[in-house]
Amino acid sequence: MSTSTASNNYVADFRVWRGDADGGDLQDFKVEVNEGEVVLDIIHRLQATQASDLAVRWNCKAGKCGSCSAEVNGRPRLMCMTRMSTFERTDVITVTPLRAFPVVRDLVTDVGFNYTKAREIPAFVPPEGVAAGEYRMQQVDVERSQEFRKCIECFLCQDTCHVVRDHEENKAAFAGPRFLMRIAELDMHPLDAAGEAGLDRKRTAQEEHGLGYCNITKCCTEVCPENIKITDNALIPLKERAVDRKYDPLVWLGNKIGRRRTP
Ligand code: SF4
Ligand code: SF4
Ligand code: FES
Repeated sequence: MSTSTASNNYVADFRVWRGDADGGDLQDFKVEVNEGEVVLDIIHRLQATQASDLAVRWNCKAGKCGSCSAEVNGRPRLMCMTRMSTFERTDVITVTPLRAFPVVRDLVTDVGFNYTKAREIPAFVPPEGVAAGEYRMQQVDVERSQEFRKCIECFLCQDTCHVVRDHEENKAAFAGPRFLMRIAELDMHPLDAAGEAGLDRKRTAQEEHGLGYCNITKCCTEVCPENIKITDNALIPLKERAVDRKYDPLVWLGNKIGRRRTP
């Protein structure tokens, strides 16, 4: 039960996970809350007044660096963008580390899985014979990929996706929404010359990055702090293009001919 103070400030009940890779538990704290504060402010006050060794990762406190990701009352969120005013003063607020990634200590997790997946996706392939600075593309194509470029790499979508959230065994075969979105972005890019270089991004999305595991539940979209329509604008179009590739008779014929040429 929270306690009111003389001003508009109050004391909130927080339950914060403390521990490391060997285990831990939720610990109860009472922490002062001032008007206009966010969950990260309260975690900082907790650190400053009661738990100086509490580990928490953050940088910008402006929703732009993507480092303060955690789970607040079980929902993946940026702590710096979660206003205390969205809770009742009597609520007990639980803060736990991202569940899909291994804990380092307290609220800090090892998100290396995401960097591994990022490295597995081949970069943009520049078109031959066009110098940088001479690239031209339609505004509509620019806008399409700009939406995906808003990603701050907070990995909340990766954390929430049920394919890996409770299934460590799927991680090797599934890149997760953030990186399937990256493949979709490159595949939609009108100047990407991956195809000419022998790289079929749609095939790799299916066969190497687990596009087929995604059953378009849109949970990733719901937690994205940048409001990127990951499922509707990236994953579903990529699935459609991958299916077209598989069932298009001309593509099928081309593949057959291509295979025959292979010794
Ligand atoms: S839409 Fe696909 S990628 Fe997104 S959370 Fe659901 S299964 Fe995961
Ligand atoms: S797509 Fe959204 S939720 Fe996923 S990492 Fe980028 S900003 Fe975060
Ligand atoms: S501290 Fe940078 S996004 Fe929260």
